[in-house]
Amino acid sequence: MNLCHGVQDSKITFFRTNKDTHVAAPNARSQCLNPDNDVPDLTGKTIFITGGTNGLGAESVILFAKHKPAHIYISGRNAKTAEKTIQRVRDAGSSTEVTFVECNLASLVSVKQAGKLFAAFTTRLDILICSAGIMAQTPGLTTDGYEIQFGANHLGHALLIKKLLPLLENRQGEDGDRRIVILTSQGARIHPSGGILFDNLRTVQNDFFVGGPIITISIHPGVVSTGLVDNLGFLDRALIYSTSVGRMLKPEQGAYNQVWAATAPREEIQNWLYYEPVGELAQSRLKKLETDDGLAGRLWDWTEEALEGF
Ligand SMILES: NC(=O)c1ccc[n+]([C@@H]2O[C@H](COP(=O)([O-])OP(=O)(O)OC[C@H]3O[C@@H](n4cnc5c(N)ncnc54)[C@H](OP(=O)(O)O)[C@@H]3O)[C@@H](O)[C@H]2O)c1
Repeated sequence: MNLCHGVQDSKITFFRTNKDTHVAAPNARSQCLNPDNDVPDLTGKTIFITGGTNGLGAESVILFAKHKPAHIYISGRNAKTAEKTIQRVRDAGSSTEVTFVECNLASLVSVKQAGKLFAAFTTRLDILICSAGIMAQTPGLTTDGYEIQFGANHLGHALLIKKLLPLLENRQGEDGDRRIVILTSQGARIHPSGGILFDNLRTVQNDFFVGGPIITISIHPGVVSTGLVDNLGFLDRALIYSTSVGRMLKPEQGAYNQVWAATAPREEIQNWLYYEPVGELAQSRLKKLETDDGLAGRLWDWTEEALEGF
C-alpha cells in the first residue's frame, strides 16, 4: 500500500501513488478538508467529545465551535485543561456553550456518573466523538481491575456509549443525522496472535458498534504530535518520529478526520466502516483479525458481561 500525503498550512492533501493496488470503494475520497469551508453549519446541534480536554479532542472542539453548534460537552479527568479548551473557544469569539463533564474512563463508576450527569444537562445529542485514549502507558489496571489501555479505551467508552445511546435515539423524528465517531489507531495492527487475550484482560499486559440509523464509524487520525506521542519515553518517541518523517501532523490537522466523519454528507459515509485521513475508506487495509466477525462477537459478549450491573 502506498498512501502518500502532503501537508500545506491548514489543508491536508492525501493521495495514492500509482502502485497502490487496494480496492477503492465507490465513494472513497482521497481528499482535502478545509474545516473553515467544508464543515456545514451546526446550528442547534449538541456534541459530546470524550478527551475534549486535550489533544485531538480539544482541537475538534475549536474546529466545531466555528460552525455554531448549540452546545459542546467535553469529558476527561482534568478540569484545568478543560478550562483552557473552554477559554480558547471564548477567545475565538464563538457563542457556542462548552461544558466540562468529569469522566474517568478507567473507572466504570465514574463513567456511569458522567452518563447520568450528561442526561441531567440535556435530552439532545447529535454527535458523539470518542477521542479520549491512552497508549504505551506504564503497565497498570483500571479501578475495576482491567488492563489499563483496554479498560479505558474500550470498556470505558463501551459503557459511555451504552449510557448515551438513548439520547442519540431520542433524536428520531427530528433532523435524523446522528453519529458516533470512534478514534482508533493503526497501532491496533500490532496485536498478539489471536487478537485479544480474553483470559488476560484482568491482568497487567506489556471497537463497540451499534445498529440502526445512527452512523457509527471508526477513524485513524494520522500520526499527530499531541501529548499521546510527545509524553512517551525517549525510545518510543524516537521510534514514532523516525517512522513518520514528513508525515507528522500538527494537532489541529490531526483533528480533521474526526471532524470530517462527524459532519460530511451522510451519503459520503459507509456505516460501520473504518476511515483513514481524510475521509478515505480504508477497510481493505485492515488485517484479517481486525475484521474477524467471530472475534468481534466474542468481544461484544465479553463487554456486555463485564458491564452488567452498570
Ligand atoms: N496522536 C496520534 O498520533 C494518534 C495516532 C493514532 C490514534 N490516535 C488516537 O487519537 C485519540 C486522541 O489522542 P490524542 O493524540 O488527542 O491524545 P492526548 O493528546 O494524549 O489526549 C488524550 C485525551 O484523552 C483523555 N484521557 C486519557 N485518559 C483518560 C481517562 N482515563 N479517562 C478519561 N479521559 C482520558 C485526556 O484527558 P484527561 O487528561 O483530562 O483525562 C485527553 O483529553 C486517542 O484515542 C488515540 O489513540 C492518536
